[in-house]
Amino acid sequence: MYCKVSVVIPTYKEVKNIPHITRAVSDALTAAAIDFEIIFVDDNSADGSETAVEQLATSIPVRIIVRKNERGLSTAVVCGIEQAVGEFVVVMDADLSHPAERIPEMIDKLESGQNDFIVGSRYVKGGSLDENWGFFRRFNSLVATWLALPLAHISDPMSGFFAFRKSNMPETHRLSPIGYKIGLELVVKGEFKQPGEVAIHFIDRQYGESKLSWQEQVKYLRHLRRLYQFRFPFLSEFFQFAFVGATGFIIDLSLYLAFQSLFGIQHIFARGMSFWGAASWNWAWNRLLTFSNRKKTRKRIQWPAFVLTSLVGFAFNWGTYVVLTEYVPFFQAHHVYALMVGVLIGLGLNFTFARLLVFRPFEDQIHDEDSQAWSRSGDNK
Ligand code: GDD
Ligand code: MN
Repeated sequence: MYCKVSVVIPTYKEVKNIPHITRAVSDALTAAAIDFEIIFVDDNSADGSETAVEQLATSIPVRIIVRKNERGLSTAVVCGIEQAVGEFVVVMDADLSHPAERIPEMIDKLESGQNDFIVGSRYVKGGSLDENWGFFRRFNSLVATWLALPLAHISDPMSGFFAFRKSNMPETHRLSPIGYKIGLELVVKGEFKQPGEVAIHFIDRQYGESKLSWQEQVKYLRHLRRLYQFRFPFLSEFFQFAFVGATGFIIDLSLYLAFQSLFGIQHIFARGMSFWGAASWNWAWNRLLTFSNRKKTRKRIQWPAFVLTSLVGFAFNWGTYVVLTEYVPFFQAHHVYALMVGVLIGLGLNFTFARLLVFRPFEDQIHDEDSQAWSRSGDNK
């Protein structure tokens, strides 16, 4: 039997909301003459949700999947989408925050080919937030939204109300459905080309309470980092590398000063020594952060390789400074600019060495014999 729209609704302890949301969806789609099914994905709330759905199922096409061994909004949504039989999938919250009346409009936009992913947006013209949201909550939500804007061309990438054609679902193994932002995950990983939005008025829940904790917000930052890495792999590595380098400079400077003031070491030697501390710091953080998804080459090989390439980078940094300030009239008058150019050249070189030589990609380890030869030759050193 053909079904046009599957409405997937993740639930955790939402027994009071289940009848209301079921009727709201059913009314909206029946009025628009759209064949539908409703799938609740419940994480073993054990609050009577199952019975509630069974009662509704006598008159409305609704079912509930109860997951006993897993807990989490995003994986629940993915699980529901996998079970969906509709041509289109809509995901929404159970707590009546999202207006079911907007679903037909969402489907229209997908069906006409105007868009391939639709988000119910609070921030597009005509959309709005619940009047009860205080300043802090609005501000928090806005900052979270801004952070995600470069990833997808939608005004409300946080939204838990979205729709797409089921056949466009990205392969599950490419997803890392962690935390709350499964819509953002799908729109980025699915590489949807024409995301669009319909305006919604977001209403605060009446029954039960939100499950969004501050831990979820921390998870969100990790999630964002991963999505940036996926979408802009080169740039995100570069920025993290530059950031680590900037913190390394602080270490360099602190050590340089500390060696002199605490141990009475001469400034020339202090300068030479602080480099090692800073380079090691940079190496450790690049290993942990910038290149966390690359091969974990043995430390006793990687550390010297990194320090060595840092020395080369520094030599060029310093050499540039010397050449510019000796021979170029402009820089003779502006030493600080020469220093900046030197730093940029050094940074570029260090970054290139780090990417190509020191932190090798994972695929190499598996497929590319070259890199095994490289690490073996490294062993022999
Ligand atoms: N199965 C399952 N498992 N469902 C869950 C879980 C879980 O661990 N946690 C939450 N849910 C369900 C809730 O029962 C509800 O139907 C829906 O997911 C949203 O949860 P809320 O706790 O109401 O979230 P919120 O209102 O704070 O956040 C909503 O708005 C955000 C934007 O402000 C969600 O739509 C977010 O996705 C959205 O980013
Ligand atoms: Mn809610």
